[in-house]
Amino acid sequence: MLRLAIEGQGHAVVEARDQPEAVQALQQDRPALVLTDLRLPEGDGFGVLRAAKELDPELPVIVMTAYGSIQDAVAAMKEGALDFLAKPVDPDHLLLMVDRALRQRKLLTEYILLKEELGARRGAPQIIGDAPSLKQAILALQRASGSDATVLLEGESGTGKELFARALHALSPRSDGPFVAINCAAIPDNLLETELFGHEKGAFTGAVARKPGKFELAHRGTLFLDEIGDLPLGLQAKILRALEERRFERVGGTQSLHVDVRIVAATNKALRAGVAAKQFREDLFFRLSVFPISIPPLRDRQNDIPILARHFVERFCRELKKKAAMLAPSAVEELQKYHWPGNVRELQNCMERAVILSESDTIHARHLNLSLHAPTPPESNAWAAFDFSGTLADVTKRAQAEVERKKIEMALKEAGGNEGRAADLLGLAYKALLGKIKEYGLR
Ligand SMILES: Nc1ncnc2c1ncn2[C@@H]1O[C@H](COP(=O)(O)OP(=O)(O)OP(=O)(O)O)[C@@H](O)[C@H]1O
Ligand SMILES: [Mg+2]
Repeated sequence: MLRLAIEGQGHAVVEARDQPEAVQALQQDRPALVLTDLRLPEGDGFGVLRAAKELDPELPVIVMTAYGSIQDAVAAMKEGALDFLAKPVDPDHLLLMVDRALRQRKLLTEYILLKEELGARRGAPQIIGDAPSLKQAILALQRASGSDATVLLEGESGTGKELFARALHALSPRSDGPFVAINCAAIPDNLLETELFGHEKGAFTGAVARKPGKFELAHRGTLFLDEIGDLPLGLQAKILRALEERRFERVGGTQSLHVDVRIVAATNKALRAGVAAKQFREDLFFRLSVFPISIPPLRDRQNDIPILARHFVERFCRELKKKAAMLAPSAVEELQKYHWPGNVRELQNCMERAVILSESDTIHARHLNLSLHAPTPPESNAWAAFDFSGTLADVTKRAQAEVERKKIEMALKEAGGNEGRAADLLGLAYKALLGKIKEYGLR
């Protein structure tokens, strides 16, 4: 009867007469769910339950017990049974239970997979680079990771401040706890306080429910205060108190909450200058810079550029399912010449673009597009020197000629004066290039 009821729901059923048969079926058929009587001709339901749990601790087991033997059911639940059914079994009740158990099981599997994926992504992030100045910063990070000291990460935009903050958390004894980040520059001032400290229900119009802030969410973990230099003065006092006392109130609340958080702050500005300009509280500055770590800009660690570039090329080739690409020496040279105002993030974007643009498995200088992005100071003012007289067509022609001339000059330079190679670089026929060289008087 039970078999018919379960098969009626589209499930396959494997039957076993006693414990030895059940154990064999468990190993052979790997069922998604076990339904067992407690009393069996040989062995008993507890034996089946134990065998099932040994095979897979998450395997749902439902036991059937005789009417009135509630102690047995309790004992089975203690040993890990999911639920129990009193005999005689009501098929509708059984089906409901089977359905719920299977759904729960599916959710659990999904949860485990997601957690693994997240874990793989989260694991201590890799900080790439060999430069002594970077190594020194990494060493400081490792030293700080063991303690709960507040760390201040200083570095230009794109140097890896968030990467360092995540690595610090992953290396710390708090790595099992949450890593919570808040960007003080990205959130409007009037919302920042509730984001940080949360609010009570009814604290202001629209506060329909109590909401926890980042400080609470980061309990037992790490709170990353990004762009701390942009914190409005009013909030600086509140943050200072939260840092000193590890205690704060939600907006609209009176109860003072205690939290156990490790603070990492980051800034791309000189906070000291902010202190001098009275935009940043001196006491907060001292509180934050217990353990300052300065991340050097990319242009100051030239030898790291090719290492990082190759790392990104490899990664993007993998992500874009392209064949592993190589960096041509001319490309490496170009990368090292550039001054990278956007630091590692800019390099990363540049390499992604290059991997997309390259048709073969070699990335050449032309795939980098660097000259277009380099804000060379005299040229950023190029409009001042540009002749805008005449019609739109006149101006466009003039502009085109100027760009062509410049691009050809650059290609010739890159090709070391070899016109055939320059033509390749430009995607131009050799003859056409010779014509243009003559036209622009480039030889
Ligand atoms: N040394 C490094 N090794 C590998 N990846 C790096 C390194 N430094 C930075 N990155 C990568 O560069 C990107 C920018 O880094 P991150 O976001 O940490 O910089 P940031 O200093 O927080 O920048 P911003 O000031 O713009 O917020 C990220 O994708 C990061 O993983
Ligand atoms: Mg950042």
